[in-house]
Amino acid sequence: MKITFLSAFWLLLLFVNPFISAQPQQKSFERRVDSVLRLMTLDEKIGQMNQYNDDWTATGPATVDNEKANQVRNGQVGSLLNCVGVERTRRWQSVAMQSRLKIPLLFGQDVIHGYKTTFPIPLAEACSWDMEAIKQSAQTGAAEASASGIHWTFAPMVDIARDPRWGRVMEGAGEDPYLGSAIATARVKGFQGEQLGGINSVMACAKHFAAYGAAIGGRDYNSVDMSDRMLWEVYLPPFKAALDAGAATFMNSFNDINGVPSTGNKVLQRDILKGKWGFGGFVVSDWGSVGEMINHGNVKNEYEAALSAVTAGSDMDMESRCYKNNLAQLVKDNKVPLALIDGAVRRILQKKFELGLFDDPFRFCNAHREQASLNNPEHTKTARQVAAKSIVLLKNENNLLPLPKNLKTIAFIGPLVKALKQNKGFWDVEVPGVDSGFIVSQWEGLKNKLGAATRLLYAKGCEIEGDNRDGFAEAVAVAQQADVVILSIGERRDMSGEAKSRSNICIPGVQEDLLKELLATGKPVVVLINAGRPLVFNFTADHAPAILYTWWLGSEAGNAIADVLFGDYNPSAKLPITFPRSVGQIPIYYSHFNTGRPATSDNNHKYNSSYLDVSIFPKYEFGYGLSYTTFAYSNLQLNTTKMKADEKIEVSLTITNTGKYEGEEIVQLYLRDKVGSISRPVKELKDFRKIQLQAGESKIIKFVIDKEKLSFYNQDLKWVAEAGDFELMIGASSEDIRLRGEFELLQ
Ligand code: BGC
Repeated sequence: MKITFLSAFWLLLLFVNPFISAQPQQKSFERRVDSVLRLMTLDEKIGQMNQYNDDWTATGPATVDNEKANQVRNGQVGSLLNCVGVERTRRWQSVAMQSRLKIPLLFGQDVIHGYKTTFPIPLAEACSWDMEAIKQSAQTGAAEASASGIHWTFAPMVDIARDPRWGRVMEGAGEDPYLGSAIATARVKGFQGEQLGGINSVMACAKHFAAYGAAIGGRDYNSVDMSDRMLWEVYLPPFKAALDAGAATFMNSFNDINGVPSTGNKVLQRDILKGKWGFGGFVVSDWGSVGEMINHGNVKNEYEAALSAVTAGSDMDMESRCYKNNLAQLVKDNKVPLALIDGAVRRILQKKFELGLFDDPFRFCNAHREQASLNNPEHTKTARQVAAKSIVLLKNENNLLPLPKNLKTIAFIGPLVKALKQNKGFWDVEVPGVDSGFIVSQWEGLKNKLGAATRLLYAKGCEIEGDNRDGFAEAVAVAQQADVVILSIGERRDMSGEAKSRSNICIPGVQEDLLKELLATGKPVVVLINAGRPLVFNFTADHAPAILYTWWLGSEAGNAIADVLFGDYNPSAKLPITFPRSVGQIPIYYSHFNTGRPATSDNNHKYNSSYLDVSIFPKYEFGYGLSYTTFAYSNLQLNTTKMKADEKIEVSLTITNTGKYEGEEIVQLYLRDKVGSISRPVKELKDFRKIQLQAGESKIIKFVIDKEKLSFYNQDLKWVAEAGDFELMIGASSEDIRLRGEFELLQ
């Protein structure tokens, strides 16, 4: 081959810049998409925009439809969800291969916190503030799911949530846009890998666009009433971060925002997402959300619902059948231009090309790979590590924890001690042929950890719900024989999750009464709280000497809990969401405004912004979490205290591990813009570092403050940094501020 000057130039460029190779490939996909599109009938195009639930499991109100196979064969279905496993996906893909154009199906699934190997619920993982761990968790889920025939996960959920009554608070990263954005990025990268189409990765889906987490009253699917400032500043950033990280798809949401359902929301989907942000992937509706616009009262019937959704930019209809039954007529009636249909189909086909499905529709259907991936011991190891990093030490009076491994007798009590599936949390996946035998219960975890010299006694004590105290006496008798009591209580896994909102978020049933009886024995009691949301547990918080918030930790829950209880892992997690002390405080979050009449203590209620009957302070604040060791913060230095907009300030400080154990600290940087044309929050997280220190070791940490960190949306929704004074706070939590500084942004 003769190498011309021009081709030599291209080769050189490719060598120097690996990213440039993506562009020609992109172009070739576009050409291939066009060539398929040209062959398609209108019916086949609409088929690509239609997604059905398979009958394996249902994650919504499924429609019985015996015609599904025929429709797939006729090219009237573009994607299936809840179709898992090589055998099943292969079977369905074979049906699609009987269609005229043989366009492969996309298989989507909620791989939210693992596939077969279940990881901690996303809110728990967020407590790790460990982006590498979070990425690894997504990567592992992707590796297993992709080996099991799945192309696409409906994750990450990047909805900011500030109301723990909302059941889906468990599925996100908590209350903060900065932390939420970092986690969104890690999750998207974990799911998708370096580039779409990797054999061990799946497409990500940033959901639910938008503001689904702000449902009024924390009631799932409820309306959202929100200012533009709040939307742009708090709820949209994690979506933008997911997009910047390359999220291939977005899902819209069930809720309306200020009266307009997201599914039919043109401003959100066309103007912001596909317009201003330049999103090149496709948008899938949420389950049935196209048709649900009739209930919202925004459209009269399914015909109008399809018109509204497709015009607004929803490319694929999950399960409502409104597109399938109405789009052709809408085109015929000149209500929907063909170009709009082509645009949606082009986006969907493009992803099928990028995934390599046109080259080999069965490339994710390899039974050997499935077996190997689902039984990969490395996955179990990762799940255990991530689970340990997700456990939050809330209290540890007199250093009761870690427990010595040579205790003579431990009483392990509570309704969750021997539970298996409960540890998986809400969004586990039913993998064909896999039972719950591989989950490590908390009981097993302790047994694995302890030698024969320690006697492990058990009593259930009570159920999670209900008022039956019959088991208390046995529990007390068991406790009396022990050196230490460990009590495992909390929610059932189906008490938080989709459609699992609760108005009473206290620890259910008589579990705290059981704790009272156990404490009365005088034995030291360590409490494990298993839950999918921040619960209210004031009695436990005030009386138990040690508390670990274990959330739902997944298949390695038992081992990870044992690792933390006995000090093989020193807890490092910190809360990504505020824990209220009363439901009446909700919504409560750290980055609130100061108000015109701020209250600074609970002792004075004279015409200030407080409650007469409850504290203004949370029970546990955002960013809070203890370690078995302690850390000292010192020597804050700013290289300058005045910066121009195009300059930066370098901040440095020293962290010293002042305790006896090696440990990790999550150092948090908060800023306050003291005077703004719009009131600014009392503090906002703008950076953090997680560092590891040996006992006695010190490290210098550096942060950089730039204009971006000082910017906000002004009244015209412009992203600006206004000149003036800023307060810098470095803390171990949002309330435990250890170092303070000031600086000025100059004109
Ligand atoms: C949920 C989505 C989920 C979908 C498919 C809906 O009910 O809101 O988050 O991806 O079902 O299971």
